[in-house]
Amino acid sequence: VPAVAAISAGGAAWLWATADVDTAGRVRFVNRLAIPPLATGRRDGSGRRVFELRARAGNRRLRPGRPTPTWGFDDGHLGPTLRVDRGETVVVNVRNELAEATTVHWHGMHLPAVMDGGPHQPIRPGATWSPTWRLDQPAATLWYHPHPHGRTGQHVYRGMAGLFIVDDPAAGSPDLPGRYGVDDVPVIVQDKNFGDDNRFDESTPLIGGVGILGDTLLVNGTVAPYHDVTAERTRLRLLNASNARTYGFGLSDGRPFALIGTDGGLLPAPHLTDRVRLSPGERAEIVVTMRPDERVVLRSYPPDLGADFWTSRVTGGDDTMDVLELRAAGGLTPSPALPGTLAEAPGLGSAGGRVDRGFELSGFEINGRAMDMSRIDFGVGRDTTEIWEVTNLDVLPHNFHVHGTRFQVLSVNGAAPPPELGGWKDTIYTPRETPVRIAIRFGGHADPDSPYMFHCHLLFHEDLGMMGQFVVTEPGVLPGRPVMPHDAG
Ligand code: C2O
Ligand code: CU
Repeated sequence: VPAVAAISAGGAAWLWATADVDTAGRVRFVNRLAIPPLATGRRDGSGRRVFELRARAGNRRLRPGRPTPTWGFDDGHLGPTLRVDRGETVVVNVRNELAEATTVHWHGMHLPAVMDGGPHQPIRPGATWSPTWRLDQPAATLWYHPHPHGRTGQHVYRGMAGLFIVDDPAAGSPDLPGRYGVDDVPVIVQDKNFGDDNRFDESTPLIGGVGILGDTLLVNGTVAPYHDVTAERTRLRLLNASNARTYGFGLSDGRPFALIGTDGGLLPAPHLTDRVRLSPGERAEIVVTMRPDERVVLRSYPPDLGADFWTSRVTGGDDTMDVLELRAAGGLTPSPALPGTLAEAPGLGSAGGRVDRGFELSGFEINGRAMDMSRIDFGVGRDTTEIWEVTNLDVLPHNFHVHGTRFQVLSVNGAAPPPELGGWKDTIYTPRETPVRIAIRFGGHADPDSPYMFHCHLLFHEDLGMMGQFVVTEPGVLPGRPVMPHDAG
């Protein structure tokens, strides 16, 4: 049986796997990993870094047969990687060419709530939204995706997601692999089901309660991908852009790799490990070392979900899935050894402090309340630090994401956080009945009428209303009333 067949479409020759998965359940890696185009924008007359993004429908040849209808930015699936230096002022002109309203949320970005792209900033069809903010936060791998209330899962699943890389030249960048698409490689992971005519199957099984779990992985929109490795060390920027699935990334021969960064930036020091768990929305930067001619597969092993959920099978917790094959060339460019230290450790507080707010995740609600666009749940003072405790009391896995800032993990079940939680985070997995304490700072932008969101990033849960709203106010100012979007389409 031939492993691949050449078919011709639109004048171009395409290589397809006749079967993406062999008899042992392993993927045959037949497609070169697509690298999202890098966008560095242009400078306008006042020195601002300006990007143009178009939200639109497209299609992609993902499997033999018909192309799959997709959504995305610019070319219609996923989106360009935006890249900006700390200190710059950013403008993104987002034009909505879809037939319905959407939003674009800058996940992990510190910015005023009106620029955040949450459910209160809909962009109606044909309109252009131009958020602008001064970028001031450490180097990190952030991302962007729609956030229309009740429809985030659908928009993201159709393919609307892109990376936003922040560089911090003034911090004296540590010597890390940094050639985009060569030894510094985006790895955007989404799991899909295919239905009739190769369409994405959007049906959400009611059994399981976590939302869509796909049986086929796309990495940067590529099925069964491989990446040609040309340097001794390769940095992978992993983004879990999936709706529901939590991954346990590891390498097929068990070799360790270095975890160097998490959601909000670089770790204090590289952490050598053989597994990294990523729930939806989380990112990890890892560095893999290879010898000439080696091949190794980045694979997802059943993640440590921290408890027996009512069934791990329907939560995807039992699955082992191939992600990406790394193929080393016969000769590899030397890479410098990893630095011993990478960034300053977050210093917001220690585990002993008083808890300012508790969040109980249960029954698709937070603290017994479902999302209400017109209700602000609480206000926090600008330039204050609070300690929050988040506990999953449910029989389902959840995580917890906070908009507009980043946080430090103080403790997990009363114990000091493990090294992989020792850096900045904006989304954290919440094991069952395990209190997670975080210290969170609200710098910069006060606005009593424009809420930031906090929510579970399993998008089915978020869309069902497992989300709340807070505002940042000047000290002593009470929360106002959310400005309701009036142009939602
Ligand atoms: Cu990644 Cu509220 O979002
Ligand atoms: Cu959840």
